[in-house]
Order: sequence, then C-alpha cells, then structure tokens
Amino acid sequence: MILPHRPRRNRKHPAIRAMVREHHVGPEHFIYPLFIHEGAGDVPIGAMPGCSRLSPAGLLREVEAARAVGVHSFALFPAVPEAQKTSDGREAHNRDGLVPRTLRALKDRWPDVVLVTDVALDPYNSDGHDGIVAPDGRILNDETVAVLCKQAVTQARAGADIVAPSDMMDGRVGAIRLALDAEGFSEVSILAYTAKYASAFYGPFREALDSAPKSGDKKTYQMDPANRREALREARLDAAEGADMLMVKPAGPYLDIIRDLRDASELPIAAYQVSGEYAMLKAASERGWLDEKRAVLESLLGIRRAGADFILTYYAKQAAQWLAGG
Ligand code: PBG
Repeated sequence: MILPHRPRRNRKHPAIRAMVREHHVGPEHFIYPLFIHEGAGDVPIGAMPGCSRLSPAGLLREVEAARAVGVHSFALFPAVPEAQKTSDGREAHNRDGLVPRTLRALKDRWPDVVLVTDVALDPYNSDGHDGIVAPDGRILNDETVAVLCKQAVTQARAGADIVAPSDMMDGRVGAIRLALDAEGFSEVSILAYTAKYASAFYGPFREALDSAPKSGDKKTYQMDPANRREALREARLDAAEGADMLMVKPAGPYLDIIRDLRDASELPIAAYQVSGEYAMLKAASERGWLDEKRAVLESLLGIRRAGADFILTYYAKQAAQWLAGG
C-alpha cells in the first residue's frame, strides 16, 4: 500500500510512545477519600473491599502509608452514631466533633498534609439528607446554607485547607466564602461540587456512612443525569460566587461533563471516582474478569484525559503504589 500517513510509526518503540504521550497520571493528582469513625477498630465496608471506617489509629496508619507513596491530600468523611443525628444536623458544626478533632490530630502530626472536608449535612442529619428537611418533605435551601456556613467555618478553624460543599444547595459557595472571610479564613479554599449528579453510583458510600436518605431521594438538589448544559450553568454560578476549583461527580460515566467544564472554565477541574465506580472495578477484578492494576490506571488516565486536573479516588494509595512500580 502507498500510504503517506501511517500513525503506527509513532507507536513502534516504547521510547517513541513515551515521547508522544499526551497525558499522564501520578500521585500528585490524587486526593484520597477516607472514612472515619469513633470506634476502636477499623470496620471493613462490604461493597468497597479494601476500604474501612477507620479508627483514629487506623487513620494515622493509612495516611502515613499513603504519604510514603506520594499522596499528600486527603478528604475526610465521618460516620456519625445515630444518637448524634438531629433534624437540624447541628453536630456538623460542633467544634469538638469527630471531624474537627481529626483535623487537629492530622495537622499536629503532619503540618504539611492537605486536608479536604465535606460540607453537607447528610452524615449528621436524622433524615439522611444533605439539607434540612421541612415537615412536608421539601429540602430547605436557605436554612441549610446557614448551617453549612457554620460547618465550613468550624472545619476551617480546626485546620481544613479546602472545604468542599457537596450538598448542591443554591448559593452556598458565595455564602461560605463570605462566612470564611468574615472569620479570618481567607486562605481556606473552596472546592465546589459543581456538577454533582443524582447517581446510583453513590450506593456503597451511603452504606459506608449509614447515610442513605430515610425517605425520598436527592433529585431536587443533585443534578439530573440526563443534563449537560445545566452543568455549565452551575459552573458559571460557582465561579462567580468565588469557588477556587470545580468538581464533576461521578467521574467515569460523566467524562463529557469533565471536558465541558475544562473547556468552559479557567478554574482547576476535579473529578470524583465515586464508591460505585470503585466497587465495579473491585468486583470484576476479584472475579478475575479484569486486570485490576491495568483497568484502574486506565480509568484514572481516562479521567485526566477528559480534562480533570485532579481526582478523588479510593484507589489513590494503591494506584500510587502501582505507579511507583509496586
Ligand atoms: C454526600 C456525599 C455523597 C458522596 C460524597 N458526599 C453521597 C451522596 O450524595 O449521597 C458520594 C461519594 C461516593 O459515592 O464515593 N454529601
């Protein structure tokens, strides 16, 4: 064949492939989400093999192990005993609650660690919703935002570097920015869950935290998986309200949204490879149907290629170990 263009020439040698490689993924791109609880031991999570609700001692071990392979950023998610849950979620801004105490413990031990906190009421709310539920079942927006502001300030005071509102209430980014600044926390960043979809892929997470809604669903605040333009609207609003970084969640089934936000915004874009994505990769790998290492690294590279600057992934430590040749 007479072919002027033979793309395979650029693939013929590993060194040439390395020269022309367009994207890469490394431990610097990972935030490691960790589940914490008050208990004495670590409690494995059924649908997330390899992940546990970590005790304070277990958390220190896990952070140390992740740091050893180059992961320096962590997102904390608390499992709160039923007895501490109320309809107004007030435990969310208890200065001596589990999250503030954990932030202080981690910063004491490793002052250079980057800590990301979840701003939302679902772990603390007796109704299991991210916001305050009215008697008629509506999720109250403005009342919720007032509590989220207190929660964010409490986290900032305890040492959070980045607060990440995952609740999807309207106007919460701007309100949290004002609240943080008013309390002297102008250096604390906001990572907005900008395009957070009402997804079936959060199932294992809700099991991990015992945080599933007691009634109804999250469709009046989380986005409809059918929508694409709406993500751009959310991105524009979050940026105007002062978000430092924007997030798309889940990641794998929403790569088009990651690309849309990357092209539309000059802010850094994050993606959350959520619990259900982790569970799928684990389950198929455990059955021997997928090569876990190759499939996971490919999924992470795909998220980067779609336009994510960084990724929240339960595989953070493991992927960093693999990338280091382990
Ligand atoms: C709740 C929250 C959820 C996740 C992160 N923060 C679940 C939900 O919205 O119901 C999901 C993360 C995951 O599935 O890994 N504010």
